[in-house]
Amino acid sequence: MQTSLFENLNLIRKKTVEGHRDRLYNQFAGKLKVNPELTRSLVSFQENKAEPFYRWLKYKEAFSSKLVKYFLAHFDTPAKYPLRVLDPFAGTGTTLTTSASKGHHATGIELLPVGVSAIRARLAADTVDINEFQKYLDKLKNFPLEPSHSEYSFPHLRITEKAFPPHTERELSAYRFFLDQIENEQVRYLFWFACLSILEEISFTNKDGQYLRWDHRSGRVLRSKYQKKTIREFREAVHEKLGIMLEDIKNRNGGSFSTRVKIVAGSCLTELVNFSDNSIDLIITSPPYCNRYDYTRSYALELAFLGFSEEDVKQLRQTLLSATVENRTKREHLAATYARQNRESAFDWVVDGFNFQEALQEVLSLLYAARENGKLNNNNIPQMVASYFFEMNFVVHEMARILSPGGRVYMVNDNVQYVGEEIPVDLILSDLAEHAGLRVDHIWILPRGKGNSSQQMGNFGRKELRKCVYVWSKPANTRLKPAKGAKISTSPRFSLPN
Ligand SMILES: C[S@@+](CC[C@H](N)C(=O)[O-])C[C@H]1O[C@@H](n2cnc3c(N)ncnc32)[C@H](O)[C@@H]1O
Repeated sequence: MQTSLFENLNLIRKKTVEGHRDRLYNQFAGKLKVNPELTRSLVSFQENKAEPFYRWLKYKEAFSSKLVKYFLAHFDTPAKYPLRVLDPFAGTGTTLTTSASKGHHATGIELLPVGVSAIRARLAADTVDINEFQKYLDKLKNFPLEPSHSEYSFPHLRITEKAFPPHTERELSAYRFFLDQIENEQVRYLFWFACLSILEEISFTNKDGQYLRWDHRSGRVLRSKYQKKTIREFREAVHEKLGIMLEDIKNRNGGSFSTRVKIVAGSCLTELVNFSDNSIDLIITSPPYCNRYDYTRSYALELAFLGFSEEDVKQLRQTLLSATVENRTKREHLAATYARQNRESAFDWVVDGFNFQEALQEVLSLLYAARENGKLNNNNIPQMVASYFFEMNFVVHEMARILSPGGRVYMVNDNVQYVGEEIPVDLILSDLAEHAGLRVDHIWILPRGKGNSSQQMGNFGRKELRKCVYVWSKPANTRLKPAKGAKISTSPRFSLPN
C-alpha cells in the first residue's frame, strides 16, 4: 500500500465532524441555485452526438458545443469582443472550436493524446482539400484489406491483447499500411483519426464506468459472461465514419476557425504558470471528477493505437490530475515548478488555501478514520481526495491570476461521496476560488443530480449528489497575491504533506 503523505492529518485531528461542511453550505446557500436550462444532455456529450464535427469521436467525458454557446451568450460583454478563451482541461476541444467558430481566440491545454488528436482532426478538417479526401476514400474502396501487413500490426498493450477478432486485427494492419500510402498530410491525419474513433465499435470491449468491459468471446480470462450487443465489421465502420467526416467537411464554412485555436499538449499543472497575468477573459472548463475514473484504462485501445508503451501509460496516469487511487502526490513537482519561477511565496499561499479549508480537512479526517476502521474498499481513497483538491487548488489559483479583471470562469463538475460521506466539491472549490481572489457569482445546480454508485447505494441509501456549474468572476480590484509582508502561516493548523 502506498504510504500517504497526508496521513498525519488524522493523527492530529481525531475529532472529526465539526459541522464545517454545514457552515460552508450556509456560506454559499444564497449562490446555490437550480438552473432549469442546464439539462443533463446539454451538459454531457449527448447533445454532441448529432453535431457535425463533434460527433466523430465518442468522448463521453465531453460537454456539448451548445453548452459552450450557452456560456458565451451568458458572458455577453460586447466591449471585449473577440474574447481570449481558455480551457485548461480541453479534452476534445469543445470549448476551443466552439469559441473560435464564434470569432474568439481560444487556447486549450490537454494531456490525454486522445483528446488532442480530436482537436487536431477538427482543425485539419477546417482546411483539408475536399477533393483529396474524396480521392483517397475512392482508393480505399478498392484497397484490399487482407492479407495483413505484419509490420503494421496493431501495437497492443497488455490490457488490449485480444481486443479484436482475428480478421479485424488483419484489416486494421492493412488499413495502417494504406495510411502510409496517403501523401496528403491532412487527409492522412483524418483517415488515421477515423480509425482511432472506431476502435471501440470494432472491438470486444465497451467503455463502461471505470473500466473496459470485455466480451467473453475475446478469449481473455474473465469473470463474467458479458456479451457485447454489436461488434462492427472494420470495413463497414471505417467507411461509415469517413462518410460522416466527408459530409461535415463538405458543409463546413472552410478555414473559418482553425487559425484562432491554439492547443498545448501537456499538463495544466505545468503549463498554467507560463501564462501571463490578466491574459485571459473567459475560462470554460470541466476538470476530471474526483471519482476514481481512470482515463488511461478507458482509452487503452486508443493509447495503444497512438503507440503508447506500458511505461508511457503509467507515466501518463501519474501526470493526469489525481483522481485515481493510484496517483501519487505531485506536491514536489508543483513546488519545483513555482521555485523555477521564483514564486515560492505564491506556492505557500496556495498551500495555505488547502490547509485552512476546514470542510476539506473535515472530509479528509473522516476518510482517514474510515480507513482506520476498515470501512474503505480501497485504502488510497483519502490520499486521492487530498491530492485532487491539492492540485485543483493550484489550478484555481492560477486561473485567478491569469484572468483579466471582469473575467469569468464557468466550470462543470460533480460532487462525489465515499462511505456515505458527501464531499461538497462545489463548495470547497468555490471557497478556494475566493481564497484565490475570485468572486463566486453562482453555483448552478443541474435539475437532477446523480445517484451514487450501486455499491454505495446498497450500503448507504440513495442520496442525490449535486452536478454543478460554478460561475466565478474576477473583480476589478482583486488582490491576487498576498501583499508584501502579508502573513503567510508558518505553522498551519494541520500538518501538511511534504
Ligand atoms: C471532463 S474532461 C473535459 C472534456 C472537455 N470539456 C470536452 O468537451 O471534451 C477532463 C479532461 O481533463 C484532462 N486532464 C486530466 N488531467 C489533466 C492535466 N493535468 N492537464 C490537462 N488536462 C488534463 C483529461 O484528459 C480529460 O480530457
